[in-house]
This record gives sequence, C-alpha cells and structure tokens, in this order.
Amino acid sequence: MMQDIEKLKSESMNLSDKIYIFDTTLRDGEQTPGVALTVDEKIQIATKLNNLGVDKIEVGFPASSKGEIESAKQIKSLGLKSTLVGLSRSLRKDVDAVLNSDLEYIHTFIGTSPLHRDYKLKMSKEKIIETAVDAIEYAKDHGLTVEFSAEDATRTERNFLFEVFNEAVSAGADFLDVPDTVGILTPIMAREIITDIKDNFSIPISVHFHNDFGLATANTLTAIECGANQAHVTVNGLGERTGNCSLEELVMSLKSAYGIDLELDTTRLYSLSHLVGRLTGVKMPVNKPIVGDNAFAHESGIHVHGILNNASTYEPMSPEMVGHSRRIVLGKHTGANAIKSKLKEYHIDLDSEQFDKVFAEIKSLGDSGKCITDDDLIAIAITQLASARETPIVLKGLGLSSGGGVSPTATVKLEIDGEEKETASTGVGPVDAALNAIRDLIRDEIDMELEEYNLEAITGGTDALAEVFVVSSDSKGNKSTGRSTNQDIVMASIIAVLDSINKLLLIQRQ
Ligand code: KIV
Ligand code: ZN
Repeated sequence: MMQDIEKLKSESMNLSDKIYIFDTTLRDGEQTPGVALTVDEKIQIATKLNNLGVDKIEVGFPASSKGEIESAKQIKSLGLKSTLVGLSRSLRKDVDAVLNSDLEYIHTFIGTSPLHRDYKLKMSKEKIIETAVDAIEYAKDHGLTVEFSAEDATRTERNFLFEVFNEAVSAGADFLDVPDTVGILTPIMAREIITDIKDNFSIPISVHFHNDFGLATANTLTAIECGANQAHVTVNGLGERTGNCSLEELVMSLKSAYGIDLELDTTRLYSLSHLVGRLTGVKMPVNKPIVGDNAFAHESGIHVHGILNNASTYEPMSPEMVGHSRRIVLGKHTGANAIKSKLKEYHIDLDSEQFDKVFAEIKSLGDSGKCITDDDLIAIAITQLASARETPIVLKGLGLSSGGGVSPTATVKLEIDGEEKETASTGVGPVDAALNAIRDLIRDEIDMELEEYNLEAITGGTDALAEVFVVSSDSKGNKSTGRSTNQDIVMASIIAVLDSINKLLLIQRQ
C-alpha cells in the first residue's frame, strides 16, 4: 500500500516540502456557537498545542475585546515555540490591537465575494482592494508577518480574487490564505482552485476550509496534494457552524495514509481533544474519527477475533499513535474470544460449562438491547462461580432500633466461612448503621469500599419494592456489583452490599 502511495505522490501530487499546521481552535474554534474560553483556559489549550508541535496558533481576535488582548499577551509571555497569530479585519485599529497584544504575526482578512461586497461591506471592488492593501502595508510597516485571507474566496469571481491576491502580494503579504468560508467546496473543486492559485502565485498558500458538507478534511487534503503549503485546522473540528478541518483527522491522515510526518507528537492528540471537549463543553460523538470513544472499540466476534490475533486486521493505526486506547465492548455481536480475553484480564477462571452459561447470558442481554459493561461481565461470571461454590458470607440476623434520642442502631449477625459473628453499630440512619456493622464484621476478611449506592422504588405505594444497586471495590482495585429487591430498604441494602462483597471475596480467592 505504501508503495502505491509513493507512486501517487510522485505522479499525481504536487506536495510542498514543508506543510505548516496553523491551528485556529482559540479563534475560529472559539466562534463555535455557545463557546467562550477564559484566559486561563486559552493558556491551557495553547500550551498543549505547542507541546503537540503545531507551527502556528491563532490565539484570538484582539480587536474584539480587552480579554482577547489580555489572553494573547499572557500566551505570548509563556515563550512557546509555536508562532502566535492574531486575527484582524482590514482596519488599522484592528492591526493596532494585534500590535498591542505583543504578537508578531497578523492574519488580516476582507470579504471579496459579491455577497460580501454587496450585502456586508457595501464596498466596490476598488474599495475592497484599497482597504486590504492599506491594512497589509500598515501591518508590514509595523514589522508584522502578514497572512492575508480573501474571505469567501471560493465564491469570489476568479479574476477578482487574483486581482486582490496580486495587490496583497505587492503590498507585502507573506502568506495568501484561501477561505472556503461556507464550506461549499468538494475535493475536485478544491483541486481546481488550489492548482490555479499555485500556478499563478509563488508565495506560500494557506487553506481555511469549513465543514458544512462534512468535506473540510477531504478538501484540505486535496489542497495539500495540489501544493498548498499550510492548513488551518481546529481541535475536534470546532468552528463556526459545523466547524473547520479537524486537526487530528488531517494530521493522522497525512501521517497514516500519505506517510507524511509533520514532526508532531501525535500521542498527545487524544488528551488535547479531551481537554478542548471539557473546556468548550462540546463533547465529541462516539464515532468521531481518531478521538471518539469508539475510534478503537470493537464488538463483533469476527473483528475481536482478528484484533486479538493482530490489531492491524481491523485498525488502520494503533490507538497508542494518538494516545487513545483499545476497548473490547461486549454486546449482542460479541464472540467467545472477546469474553475469554476479558475474563483473563480480570483473572477469572471458568470451566467450559460455566463459560457457556456466561456466554449465553451475555448474548441474551445483548439481544435485549443492553450494553454490557465489564462490571456486568464480572458480576455474571462471579454468579456462575458462586453457584458452584459456597457463598463466603451469609446474613443470619438483623435488628434495628431508633428513636428516643438514641442514634439509629443496627445489630447484624453474619456467618463468615461457617463461623457466626455479631456486632452492633450506630449511623446517621438505619442503612448507614447496618452498613457500619457489616464493615466491622468483615474487617479481617476484606478491605472494601462502597463506591456507589443507588436506591430506587420500583413500585408505587407505601409497600413499594425498593431496588438497591451497589458497586464495591477492594484494595487491589477489583470491583463488583450487587443488587437486591426487597420491601424493606435496609434489608435490600444489606443484601445488595453482601452480594457485592461475596463476589469480591470470590475474585480474591480464585
Ligand atoms: O471562515 C473564514 O472565512 C474565516 C476568515 C476570518 C478567514 O474564518
Ligand atoms: Zn473560518
């Protein structure tokens, strides 16, 4: 496969020697509806982008607020290796704001399409050129590196676009950027426009493609194939409306499919994506390429079998390459191999009869539409083990007293490995008192922690049935679940907790 791509690269592509990654998560990404980042959050993201190794970070739009100038200045003071960029309309006051932010690289833009000229800017073509040129010259006079964007370039008459670009180059622009502002390109259209621009301009060409039809990454790759020198991207593909070309998708397709190593530390991609998801509140769908929860998850028996033998059978890249991890998911498509490998992971040994029962139960739960967690599998497997063995702890008695100014007290009698033990404990309520008594009684057997306790009434009325679901863990990190249904809440709680403790003891005694 790599040989074919080398042939394609030499015969049908015009790849530039250096491809710059210009990240605009902190500017276009922050324009995602509903997203606003604090200075501190911008600093965290900029630091991670720098550690990943992107060439340029667009830190914001300084003219838009004092906070934007402040965050740009603070990010500048970190002394990062990535070049920091400030956005600016083609206005001297916007250029001043970039200068006041201590930045040395400006991304200045003006709308060039008929729609922008007539309905937004209400400027003639001549005025557009004059305004763009004035801002570029002013920025150059103040020592800035200038990247010029012809906003809505892909809907601009080609001869006018070239006229604007020619004037921008004469005014001193260092990079020309081609925004597909409303994401109307398709790969073949991206090929045509970028080839035309590369044939006519010798300064570096950048692309800024939006994702309205889900084509931003494909179009950006096509532009790179045609010689584009730089790609604007955002983490998780954030940005106006449906966003921009996604950083992780572009970088990993270049690396895995084209064999182009941009010298980025791609093992940082997953944690960067998570940080951005957390700080922006825009969570990724499970099927988001590269960073989604399912990017390296496998359920079907055929796939898991392949993965367990050689992960490349069903993975185009390894999860480690992007700092993600592989997940074997249990469900209706699960095969025996997946369950065996999970049981091995949790050190649970079943004989073939027990295994068949576990397998059948997983399948039937899957058929009923349930997603089976590892905890569910452990609980099912341990139940099989438990049915073949003596349950270590059995409840022999429970007494409760409260009222009269005395703290609620529970007296619990347990049979532990055949030996009866009894104790009384107090608590904030009867359930707490009973659980405290159990903790006292089992202290020598197991160091357990109650991690989750959920109580639900599953029928109405004063005689409602209570369902208690608990998750316990031991000091070795084993986890188990316990469940019980009873009219008495205290009894339901105790039985559920003992159920989970018995499972933990069975795991420990394997
Ligand atoms: O999408 C766009 O056109 C932009 C410009 C500011 C370059 O974000
Ligand atoms: Zn944009």
